[in-house]
Parts: sequence; structure tokens; C-alpha cells
Amino acid sequence: MNGAVRCLLLQDFLPCGSMESKKKIIVAIDGHSSCGKSTLAKALAKALHYAYGDSGAMYRAVTLYFLDQAVDYNVPEAVEAALEQIEIHFERVEGQNHTFLNGEDVERSIREMRVSELVSPVSAIPAVRKAMVRQQQAMGKRRGIVMDGRDIGTVVFPDAELKIFLTADVDVRTSRRHLELAAKGIDAEWDDIMQNIQERDFIASNRADSPLRTADDSVTIDNTLLSEEEQLQQALSLAQQRMAMVV
Ligand code: DC
Repeated sequence: MNGAVRCLLLQDFLPCGSMESKKKIIVAIDGHSSCGKSTLAKALAKALHYAYGDSGAMYRAVTLYFLDQAVDYNVPEAVEAALEQIEIHFERVEGQNHTFLNGEDVERSIREMRVSELVSPVSAIPAVRKAMVRQQQAMGKRRGIVMDGRDIGTVVFPDAELKIFLTADVDVRTSRRHLELAAKGIDAEWDDIMQNIQERDFIASNRADSPLRTADDSVTIDNTLLSEEEQLQQALSLAQQRMAMVV
């Protein structure tokens, strides 16, 4: 490793075309846990021919590494040494965006409850955030990216042309998460999922470093009663407005 967490973006995700390149913007999607940020971000990236960045997957991959390597996240030296050994990148696998940790496809394991239960304290560690934010900013250097997370519009890309804050009723979020996990063959109890969602939101909103909050210039979308297509159309229309403002 070359002394820092490295994160590579897929070449085939990179947008092309001289007309597009003049108007490429950054779309930051932040919001509460399990409210469909990544579903919206992926669909929007596809519609715009932009790259997609799943910042939560990066924090999950670090957490998985800490769990599997028994890294004590309370010991700063252990965290720093572990971060030196971590390489994260995204690849397309059967048409889906997959997260790779040190060359291994971890897309399924990073969604397991054992990771969801530890990701909040791990993602609150300033050294972890610093390493992730650096890589996320590198991913957006050429603009033309949709990234979702908790601090994308406030910390990672404060100059993003479009910032969306996504939220939904917690029961609806629990249902969606339950279905998503079941579809991946991951068994989890409804109550555990809801408790985990609420705890992760609480910790993300109350941590000292980069807390989850709405950026002053963000547009809030509550998708409790919206279909995926309806929320995509709202976001697409906002993106087109912002793109028209970029010369
Ligand atoms: O998006 P997600 O639920 O997969 O993210 C997992 C956790 O990572 C989430 O509970 C909070 C943390 N996270 C963060 O602190 N900052 C981000 N930009 C993205 C995620």
C-alpha cells in the first residue's frame, strides 16, 4: 500500500462527451439511514451518465476490515496502521456497483448487521473520516458524479451545484431495509433493523466530526409517499435546472 486508503473509480462509470463535460455538476445526496439515498443516487447517475459514489459503502468496508482483523478502534495507532492497509474500489459486477476491499468483493458482507452495528462508532473517528473524505473528493475532481452519504453536501463537496437532503418516515425506511436485506439473503429482525436505523441516525446527527445536517442550500425531498420513479423525476428536474446554470 502507498501509505493511505486508496479508492479507485470505475473507468466505465466515467462520463464522456465534450458537450456534457462543459456542464458537468456534482450532485450530493445526504439524509437519514435507509431512506433510499443510494437507490436515487444510482438512478440519477445512470440517467445523467455520471459516476456514482457510495460513501457509506466506504465506511462499511473500513468497519468490516476492523471487525475481521480485530482492530481496536479505540486505539488511534491501531486505526492509523489499519488505514494504511486498506484499499477500497468499486467495480461493476453483473451490472451492479460492487465494493471491493483489498481486492475482495465485499458488497454482500458490508451490508450484514454486524457491520451496521459497528459502522457508527467507526465512522465517527476523525482519522477514518479524513481518509475517506480525501478519497471522495478525489473521485469528484472531474465533477460529473452523484455521491450519497451524510456529509457530502456539507463537508465533502460544499460547492456541489445540487444538494438533496432525503428523508422518509422511519416505518417505511424499516420496511424497505427489511426487504432489501431479505432480497440479499440476509436474515434480520424487524425490531433490530428499526433500532439500528434510529441509533445510526442519532449517532450521525450528534457526532462532533461532520454531523448529519441539512446544508443551507439543500433541497429536502421526503419520499415516504413517492415511488422510486417519482423521486428520480424530481431529482432529475432539479439536476437539469442546475446544469442549465453552469456555463
Ligand atoms: O449509507 P449507509 O447507511 O450505508 O452508511 C453506513 C454508515 O456510514 C452510516 O450509518 C453513517 C456512516 N456514513 C457517514 O458517517 N458518512 C457518510 N458520508 C456516509 C455514511
